[in-house]
Amino acid sequence: MAEVPLKVCIVGSGNWGSAIAKIIGNNVKKLQQFAPTVKMWVFEEVIDGRKLTDIINSDHENVRYLPGHKLPENVVAVPSLTEAVQDADLLVFVIPHQYIHKICDGISGKVSRKALGISLIKGLEEGHQGLKLISDIIREKLDIDVSVLMGANTATEVAEEQFCETTIGSKAVKNGFLFKKLLQTPNFRVTVVDDADTVELCGALKNIVAVGAGFCDGLRWGDNTKAAVIRLGLMEMIAFARIFCKGQVSTATFLESCGVADLITTCYGGRNRRVAEVFARTGKSIEELERELLNGQKLQGPPTAAQVHRILMHSDLTKKFPLFTAVYQICYERKPVREMLACLQCHPAHI
Ligand SMILES: NC(=O)c1ccc[n+]([C@@H]2O[C@H](COP(=O)([O-])OP(=O)(O)OC[C@H]3O[C@@H](n4cnc5c(N)ncnc54)[C@H](O)[C@@H]3O)[C@@H](O)[C@H]2O)c1
Repeated sequence: MAEVPLKVCIVGSGNWGSAIAKIIGNNVKKLQQFAPTVKMWVFEEVIDGRKLTDIINSDHENVRYLPGHKLPENVVAVPSLTEAVQDADLLVFVIPHQYIHKICDGISGKVSRKALGISLIKGLEEGHQGLKLISDIIREKLDIDVSVLMGANTATEVAEEQFCETTIGSKAVKNGFLFKKLLQTPNFRVTVVDDADTVELCGALKNIVAVGAGFCDGLRWGDNTKAAVIRLGLMEMIAFARIFCKGQVSTATFLESCGVADLITTCYGGRNRRVAEVFARTGKSIEELERELLNGQKLQGPPTAAQVHRILMHSDLTKKFPLFTAVYQICYERKPVREMLACLQCHPAHI
């Protein structure tokens, strides 16, 4: 690890990337341990004839992904990925998980091996040995230590500086505490735990449950039913972590912000719940609704359900995860939304 001040690069500039850039930009101005300028890699887009990087660097606003919020002037938008990461000591990964291979392949060999990474990305993949976490992909492709940050953190509310909590999971806890310094504010409270894989898995799996919650809303099922979906979803999250995490899984981690709090916020707000509600009401495809409703943002719940389904099929475990399985089948196999009720009625948690 380099001597102070540590240079920070944010890889990504979507809704969450921009909200976290606001926190990091303001924090580094106050803490001598960090260099005062923060580079933010921006996937270049043209908005009303102007490059998004030019808009961010002159107007200090990401008009596409976080409109209405000023970014600190020391956050500099950089369109070249390699230029953004080349001298960074701390790398904050915050892109939709669909792009992680492309991004890591683009910077492999160009990042200092002493750099430390933190992933704010919610998603997972099927690997050769079952589960592959996004942090595993970054770690393997860049050969750096990677922590994760997950929590009940809807980007717009964080950007509005409303109070919330979050969880950093770090296998090397001292690295987690370094990122805590970079990220904590009076209204963004960070807890560090060493159960990093469970923290990350919570962030990915809760998006599947949010799709189930959105189906409940779309069908106008009541609060009791939605609470049952959330509870059964939590049971499946815990069971999945116990089967597929390589290390020890602590039940206490599910009580951190990354667990039950993120699950609740995602099942009441958030894009996955919202799109699932409209899906249940209109019958349009997930891809169509993503294009129509999200203005370039990506959905995580349905693709994560598909990855999880492949992992479960491979281990012949779909029957133990009826909610995860039903969400996948409804999204991608034309199973009628109403049939989610059957998976609730026959859930193994009741037998
Ligand atoms: N938004 C939230 O409230 C929130 C909160 C917590 C965690 N997260 C997680 O953070 C991660 C990033 O989410 P977000 O909300 O910042 O993203 P988003 O969905 O708002 O952003 C889209 C991003 O993808 C980039 N992009 C578009 N096309 C691309 C391409 N072809 N190649 C590479 N990049 C491309 C855009 O530049 C933009 O940065 C996700 O895993 C999400 O689950 C989001």
